[in-house]
Amino acid sequence: MQTVNDATSLAAAIEAAQSTGKKIAFVPTMGALHAGHLSLISAARNHADFVVVSIFVNPLQFGVGEDFEKYPRTLDADIESLESVGANLLFAPTVDVMYPDGQPAPVTKFSGEIGTRYEGAARPGHFDGMLTVVARLFDLVKPDFAIFGAKDAQQLFLIRRMAKTDYPQLQIVSAPIVREPSGLALSSRNRYLDAASHQVAEQLSAAIRAGHATAQKPSIALESARAVMSQVPEAKLDYIALVDADTFETIPDSFKGRALMLIAAVVGTTRLIDNIEITF
Ligand code: PAJ
Repeated sequence: MQTVNDATSLAAAIEAAQSTGKKIAFVPTMGALHAGHLSLISAARNHADFVVVSIFVNPLQFGVGEDFEKYPRTLDADIESLESVGANLLFAPTVDVMYPDGQPAPVTKFSGEIGTRYEGAARPGHFDGMLTVVARLFDLVKPDFAIFGAKDAQQLFLIRRMAKTDYPQLQIVSAPIVREPSGLALSSRNRYLDAASHQVAEQLSAAIRAGHATAQKPSIALESARAVMSQVPEAKLDYIALVDADTFETIPDSFKGRALMLIAAVVGTTRLIDNIEITF
């Protein structure tokens, strides 16, 4: 696997691949790679013959007081993992490469009203910063496919919506959530959890599973999920919500179709999110 750190070397490597007729599949990440990330790379390999991965901890999507400084950076281990799953090219830029006009970089993509709900309510500006870096990465990598995890459901929804208008040639692919045997969704932030917090964190997935198991109607599913979280006061619940999977709008109790149950809670100092698809 080749590693490049600047836009010129990236463009050269991409052009070399394209000149031999290869399609490009792209997996953007912030590193601290785990099996969830690696599953995206396997999905990428099923779509294209040249897989590009980026590792960039994007300052623009972190709020004041969030974990930008302490976000885990494990580049050597990440490179080993990427080699083992057969990624072709790693793009690991510095902040200056991504934001050459200096900091704070201007936001160029906006997530709108949906971007102010749920994670956006807890993390103002997060989704605008996320879309801005994803667009900049798309502009640099020029992929045919881009793969994102269903774990970050609101992020995926917003990226799909942006791509539909701004990158119509690009196919957005989603990959299922990879979980520990306990049910806990893998996350780079799980490494902040000690053993006791880990047990508490496991209840987020238990809650949405309970919702899934009692899906006669939305109000009942929500009640079941909330009942699980009420047994775990150590987790500071932010929201449990049901949204239409296609529009991200809240659903009425009469809803029929594909919904997502979303959950977010703070365990210790770690913010965790999860979701599950429920068909009513
Ligand atoms: P990061 O949190 O590193 O996640 C990179 C990708 O891995 C995202 O598409 C995310 O949904 C996916 N992912 C994370 N945990 C997963 C799991 N347990 N199962 C399946 N997929 C999982 O999301 C970001 O980075 C950033 O916001 C980014 C899109 C790179 C923009 O900076």
